[in-house]
Amino acid sequence: MTPAIAIIGGTGLTALDTLKITRRETLSTPYGEPSSPVLHGELGGRAVAFLARHGPHHTLPPHKINYRANLWALHRLGVQWVIAVAAVGGIRNDMTPGVLAFPDQLVDYTWGRGCTFFEDNLSQVTHIDFTEPYCGELRERLLHAARALQLDARESCTYAAAQGPRLETAAEIRRMERDGCDIVGMTGMPEAALARELGLRYAACAVVANRAAGKAPGVITMVEIERNLVEGMDKIKSLLIQAILMLDGGR
Ligand code: HPA
Repeated sequence: MTPAIAIIGGTGLTALDTLKITRRETLSTPYGEPSSPVLHGELGGRAVAFLARHGPHHTLPPHKINYRANLWALHRLGVQWVIAVAAVGGIRNDMTPGVLAFPDQLVDYTWGRGCTFFEDNLSQVTHIDFTEPYCGELRERLLHAARALQLDARESCTYAAAQGPRLETAAEIRRMERDGCDIVGMTGMPEAALARELGLRYAACAVVANRAAGKAPGVITMVEIERNLVEGMDKIKSLLIQAILMLDGGR
């Protein structure tokens, strides 16, 4: 069965144990290899495809991810909805560890990544509209699911896409704050723009893993990030099932 829905799992969600896996598919694309084989399976009674953004063993850093191959592969499978799961740092005061955040805007600070499909052999230069970078309908479904489950969720926020793989300086975070950003992650772009170029309905749900640099005393450690993600990803797993139950997979 063609999966209408895909989940791209990020840090803390390399595997989705709630997915009843039926098949693993290794795809190649004109842009190279996706981060991992696509796992086909069933979640919430629907056919779902799952892709581990950082690779099956979480070895690809954000700037090395082949975002074009990942999105192209999902598009080729006939996927229409893409739910992107990501770990983020919290900039806004209410973005504390464990909170779920559903961005409705983004600012892109990344560079040097393969960021468009409209590059070579063009019959004309193409500029996509990106005023609203996330699919409003999919966001609404995710928010609806979060409300139904009474999860501690932030319904409107701006995502800062940082280059990484290092974390930010305190001054960089202050700059992002002045720019209107509420959360910061490293993988939201060019993923969202590539999804739009392919006409995929794409929305993100983020788990706050730590307070962003300079927002809490001390250094940010991977141990802290991973600890906070365990609980957050459990919430994401229930959210995904609930949201998928509510999605019209046939469209
Ligand atoms: N900054 C960028 N990306 C992140 C962070 C952060 O503080 N935490 C988790 N992903």
